[in-house]
Parts: sequence; structure tokens; C-alpha cells
Amino acid sequence: MEEEMSEPLILDGKALSQKLREELRREIERYTSAGYRKPGLAVVLVGDDPASQVYVKNKVNACRKVGIESIFYQLDKNTVTEELLDVIAELNSREDVDGILVQLPLPEQINQEEVILAIHPEKDVDGFHPENMGKLVAMMEDGFIPCTPLGIDLLLSHYGVGLKGKDVVIVGAGFIVGRPLSLLMLWRDATVTVCHIHTRDLKKHTLSADILISATGVPHLIKEDMVREGAVVVDVGISKVEGRIVGDVDFEKVKRKASAITPVPGGVGPMTVTGLLMNTVKSYRRRLRVHSTSTMKP
Ligand code: GUN
Repeated sequence: MEEEMSEPLILDGKALSQKLREELRREIERYTSAGYRKPGLAVVLVGDDPASQVYVKNKVNACRKVGIESIFYQLDKNTVTEELLDVIAELNSREDVDGILVQLPLPEQINQEEVILAIHPEKDVDGFHPENMGKLVAMMEDGFIPCTPLGIDLLLSHYGVGLKGKDVVIVGAGFIVGRPLSLLMLWRDATVTVCHIHTRDLKKHTLSADILISATGVPHLIKEDMVREGAVVVDVGISKVEGRIVGDVDFEKVKRKASAITPVPGGVGPMTVTGLLMNTVKSYRRRLRVHSTSTMKP
């Protein structure tokens, strides 16, 4: 007899983001009503990559809606490393800047490593500086967790998806998502497997997952036969195929097997931006305490 499948729970990152951003908006309003300046986020985009332009615009708009002052720097595609380092040095020293975000990827003439190292760790709201990556390894709460891993953790926790002792399989070992996410899931006491381009039998690993998270950018990499019945599936991919936005997961088919799944769009994407806003306010709170007797108050 054919087994009757119920619809999976949709992990709605858009709805959760609305709720969390409203909470942030109210918190910021309490500070500004008391006479403190707004939180400030500097967003730096080098060049004119269309996808990056969309992401940066989303981040700037999200800031405005919650009351974070965003300072947007558009630099020419031919900018050299030294010029970008000069901009970062100025932003490091500015009292009204709590967070600095340099959108990745950078044009190839720029030394990305030097740029990441130049951002002051206490303003590194992307969490890419090795001091913050190190704090993630060491499970130190005062570091910044990269925005997408942070957003996924908030989403799973909101929907009551437990991680302790669970088999979490991550597909993709990139610097922005897969790698830091694996450390965060380990922090949450999951048993973590990281698959990547050199993994020999991907399906063998994905089939063992209680929670399967894909962050590769390969459209529809994850098929129905790669997912265990009842698994929770998180799709971090955003690709454009024939003018449509699609994820790493073949959603329509995989949803028949999953107990819970994130949509694309409206799943992880908005949660990444929410993670950025939370990190910026985290930095602001800390800097407010440090500076509240001097330059913060008007
Ligand atoms: N490019 C893709 N994702 C990100 C991100 O989270 N932060 C930055 N700075 N660049 C990105």
C-alpha cells in the first residue's frame, strides 16, 4: 500500500525575519529615544557584480527599516587593495560605525585575505576575521558568528528543531557558509559531516542526515533519492536558472520526503540579512556601554 505523506513544515525565514527585525526596531527605538545615536553599518561594494548589487541593496534597505544608519560605499571595479584598506582604516576609527561589511566576492586584483584581516574584529559583523572564526571554534559567546550560519541556527531553534546528538550533514565547505556552519552545529552538540567537491559518495552521506543543509550554489543538486524520509532540509543555495531563482534542493520532489524544509526564496536568504542586523546591534550595544559616558550621547 502506498504510504500517505503529510505536507512538510515550511521553515519560513521571511516570517521569522519580520518578527526578529520588529524586535530589533523596538530595541533601537528605546536607545534613540534615550538620546543615543543610531547604530551604524558601513557597507562596501567593489565593482558592479549584479548579484552583489542586489544583496547589498537588500542589506541597506533592511538597515533603514529597523533604524540602523547604513553608510554605503560603492568603489570602482578597478580599485586596488591599498585603496580599499584606506577606506577600512577610516571606518575602523569612526565612532559612529559599529559594523563594517565588505561584500564578497571581491575583484581578483584585490587581496581578500588582507582585507579581512584589516577589519577591526569588534566591527567585523560578517564574522570572517580569524579572531571571530577562532572564537567560533572556542565557543566564545562574545565573537561574531557569520550571518548565514547565525540565521540558520535561529531558524532551526525557532521551529524547535533540536540539534543535540543529531546527524547534521552539510554539503559545501565554503568559507562563508559551510565551514563556519559546521563549527556552529558542533557547538550545538550535533554530529557533523561536511561534504565537498572531493567527497566520493555524496548520496551515502546525505541519506544519513537527520538535518541536511546544502550550501553549494549548484541548482537542484539535492534530489529526492538523496534525502532520508522525515529529514529536515535547509537550502542555502541561490541560483538563477532561466530567469527564476532556484535553490540547491529540488524542492517540489524533496518536500515529499522531508518533515520540514526551507523554501527558496523566503527561507535562509532573509535570515542571513537578519543575522547581519543582529550582529550590528550586538556591536552597537557593546560600543554603547564602552562609550556611553563620552561621544555616543548627543
Ligand atoms: N557574499 C555572499 N555572502 C556574503 C556575506 O554573508 N557577507 C559578505 N560580506 N559577502 C557575502
